[in-house]
Parts: sequence; C-alpha cells; structure tokens
Amino acid sequence: MSDRVPSAQESIPQTAPRAFWDRHKEEVMAAMFRVLNSGTYILGREVSAFEEEFARELGFTGAVGAANGTDAIVLALRALGVGPGDRVATVSHTAVATVAAIELAGALPVLVDIEPDIYTLDPAALGRTLEAVDGIKAVIAVHLYGHPADVPAIQQAADRFGIPVIEDCSQSHGAELYGRATGGMGEIGTFSFYPTKNLGAFGDGGMVVAKSTACITKLRMLREYGCVRRHVSEIPGMNSRLDELQAAILRLKLSHLREGNRRRAVIAAAYDAGLAGSGLALPARRQGATHVYHQYVIRHPDRDRLQSRLKEEGIGTNVHYPVPVHLQPAYAGRLEIDPAGLGASEAAAREVLSLPMYPEMTDETVARIVDAVRRSV
Ligand SMILES: Cc1ncc(COP(=O)(O)O)c(C=O)c1O
Repeated sequence: MSDRVPSAQESIPQTAPRAFWDRHKEEVMAAMFRVLNSGTYILGREVSAFEEEFARELGFTGAVGAANGTDAIVLALRALGVGPGDRVATVSHTAVATVAAIELAGALPVLVDIEPDIYTLDPAALGRTLEAVDGIKAVIAVHLYGHPADVPAIQQAADRFGIPVIEDCSQSHGAELYGRATGGMGEIGTFSFYPTKNLGAFGDGGMVVAKSTACITKLRMLREYGCVRRHVSEIPGMNSRLDELQAAILRLKLSHLREGNRRRAVIAAAYDAGLAGSGLALPARRQGATHVYHQYVIRHPDRDRLQSRLKEEGIGTNVHYPVPVHLQPAYAGRLEIDPAGLGASEAAAREVLSLPMYPEMTDETVARIVDAVRRSV
C-alpha cells in the first residue's frame, strides 16, 4: 500500500501493514543488514535491546520476547503455575487466540460477558462467574480494539478469590488507564506484534511483561526449554523465541509507536466529528482511558448491508469478530460460560464494523470515508 492519497476510484484498505515499509525502506534495510552481518539470528543483542527499550518506553519492570502473542499468553499462564485441570476466565468477544492459548496451556476456558458499549470484560459478570464456577485460577482481561479494560475493577473481583489477572495487550500497545500502561496493572501483560498491530513486525512476534523480577526470570526460562544455562533444563519449558530480524525491525518501529498512536487518535477524532448525528453508534470511551485505536469500531443493526455498500464505494472494512469464540465450530457447546449468558458478546458480534485505521491515512482519505459512510447508513 502506498501512502499516497488514494484517488476517488482507488480502494481504501481497512489496514495497511506495508505503509511503514514504503516510508522507511532505508532504515528497515539498515536494521536487517545489521542483523544479517552479525551472524547471530536467535536471542542475540537485538532481542535484549528491544526487550529493554520496550520495557523502558512503556514503563514495565522487564520484558521477555516470545515467538507470537498466542505463545505470550501460554508463557504467562505457565509462569503463574496454571495448567491441566485449572480454569481460566476470559471473554468470548476476542481473537480466538486468547482462548486457544488457554487450551494450549492445558487449562479450561470459562467465557464471561463484556461491557456492552466498551467491549471489554465486564467486572460484574466476572464477579458472578467467579462465584458460580469453581477452580478458576486466573483471569485474562483483553484490551480489545486498543481500549483499556477496567483492570482495577477486574482486579478487585479477582482479589476476592486470590487469583491473578493477566492483561492481553495484543491490541493496546501504549494504551493507558488512569495514567497506568496496559500490561502493567495486572500480574503479567502479553503482547502480539502481528504485522497489523499498532506495533507490528514484518512477521510473527510477541512479548511478555511482568511486575516481579522472579516472574521475568521464570518467563525467560520457559521460553527456551526451561534453561538458564544452555542445554540444562531447570524446569520443563518450550521454544518460543523472538528472532533477531524481527527484534531489529521492532526496535525501529517502537521509536514510531507514540507518533503512530497520536495520529490514530487524530483520525478517530475526525471520524467522531464527521459521523456525529449519522445514526451510527460510535466508540464509547471509559473516563480516564487513553484509547490507542487499534480499531475504530462502529455499530449498526444492519452491519452486513452497510459493509457491502461501503465495499461498492471502495472502502475496506473488517468485522472483529463476526463469531464469538463460544459459537465457533471448534468450541461450540463444550466451553463453560457466564451463568447469565453472553448476550452482550453475541450482540456485538452481529453489529460491529471496523473502519479503515492506520497512521499513514491522510486527512483526505478520512474525509472520503466519512462521506461514504454517511451516504451508506
Ligand atoms: C486480542 C488478541 N490476543 C492474542 C492474539 C494472538 O497474537 P498472535 O497472532 O501474535 O499469536 C491477537 C492477535 O492476533 C489478539 O488480537
């Protein structure tokens, strides 16, 4: 995708992971060249430097690179001692990866409903689920679309049962709640660097951050066969390493994260202003939250018709996510769910629509989208 202004006839994509490459080719090539010349391709200087810079930039005690965001959750669960037979509460309105990771760790997902307007784990629903279901050993709050879940209230519910909160920050790099970084409020935070994320690699990548240094040491061991010294496994671990090429690219992209998030907020404000009074439900925001707009999600009762009309206008949109996890073929009928049901999750899946959102979008492109959406509602 070029960062030129698309002409009136050109399609506008919903996301544009190539745009950074188009703007920063020389710096990306220099970073890759540095790695290729170094002769170290796994767990070398680039990964250590990126871990340090990521922790410093976002304010974490420490950070441990992983192969992807799904593994980051598996590592977090294993570091907390969650495994076969344990239950883990999370949401159904998320990327299937959050739930898949719980099963990969050998645990049993318990799916809880969301706050209907903000789309993140509902603390009241969590409280009633923790009362009703025995054996829940951890909670995963997902900061969906780049908007912080209400971690303080979730923590309060979890504290009554003495269980830790993990934050899935795959969509919330740089988001904050009451001035605290997402990922730094609970016991452990996990990140994905899938190419379309606010901080995205040119391949797979992930990160785990933790409050305690003991936990960081354990995560470091778990990601490479439980070793401290090479070839000596102290605890059973796995192979989930971030590679040097992705780390070098991510170091460069990290230096653009804040400006990218600021640009996303400007685009979101333009959408807010342009679509006010259009009859669409626009994104709600929690007081005290800094939303980083991984997605700008509108809501419409006839979402599918709106999506196809926008397609005819050359506007790319996406649905995150059309089928809640508890209704997916792989999971339907076999997962435990919130005793009050998952009504808010099911309604969101029917109505949400993600408009184009990436920092390289021009004001003219945003104006063209606003105009097309207003005519299509
Ligand atoms: C909320 C959420 N959790 C987990 C993941 C998994 O990340 P990955 O694709 O890097 O394994 C993603 C990204 O796809 C995500 O959006």
